[in-house]
Amino acid sequence: MIKIAVLVSGSGSNLQALIDANLSGQIVGVISNKPEAYALERAKKAGIATATIEHKQFPNREAFDDVMHQQLLAWDVDLVVLAGFMRILSAKFVNAWEGKMVNIHPSLLPHYKGMHTHQRVLNTGDRLHGCTVHYVTAELDAGQALTQGVLSVNQHDDASSLADRVHVLEHLIYPQAVEWICNGTLVHTDQGVLFKGQSLNAPVQFCKI
Ligand code: GRF
Repeated sequence: MIKIAVLVSGSGSNLQALIDANLSGQIVGVISNKPEAYALERAKKAGIATATIEHKQFPNREAFDDVMHQQLLAWDVDLVVLAGFMRILSAKFVNAWEGKMVNIHPSLLPHYKGMHTHQRVLNTGDRLHGCTVHYVTAELDAGQALTQGVLSVNQHDDASSLADRVHVLEHLIYPQAVEWICNGTLVHTDQGVLFKGQSLNAPVQFCKI
């Protein structure tokens, strides 16, 4: 059984969706860089081990990442799932977990990397928006996209309504993507990502609303 660690900084609604999904892998631990993150409460309620590692207490990014790395090794983790983890990771850490670390980003990557995606979509006047699960590489939001959820932007949407609607999609596609990794439907190899035994050339469009 695949052992999963989830890294969080905030509310943890995606963590909750992963917990509720009854994955065939096991969430063995949750790490937060913020002691006040509600995600920690969610983990505790579900009986999952937690670790708070405050980035402010470290002299630099590498020192913080090293402690996280040691915690992940101590839990014997196979897969790291970033779920609203609001820290940029050092190249050393990312390389150590290459092919074993995924993130969810609130846009249809490669569009709108970085922050404030909903407002930027509205500013551009895009008609489609959504979220993407992708492998994490040293370049921000640039690793291979695995799956996407897509929605139509409505005339009355604002950044807040879009954030809410994208969250609904996230809670569908993230547990599905993680389950695909847990059950071997999706495999990272040196030759690339395989989905159902075939090379994955474009993200699976899992749902559209
Ligand atoms: C999500 O919108 C996700 O796309 C982004 O951070 C947010 C986390 O939300 N990476 P939550 O803490 O899971 O509710």
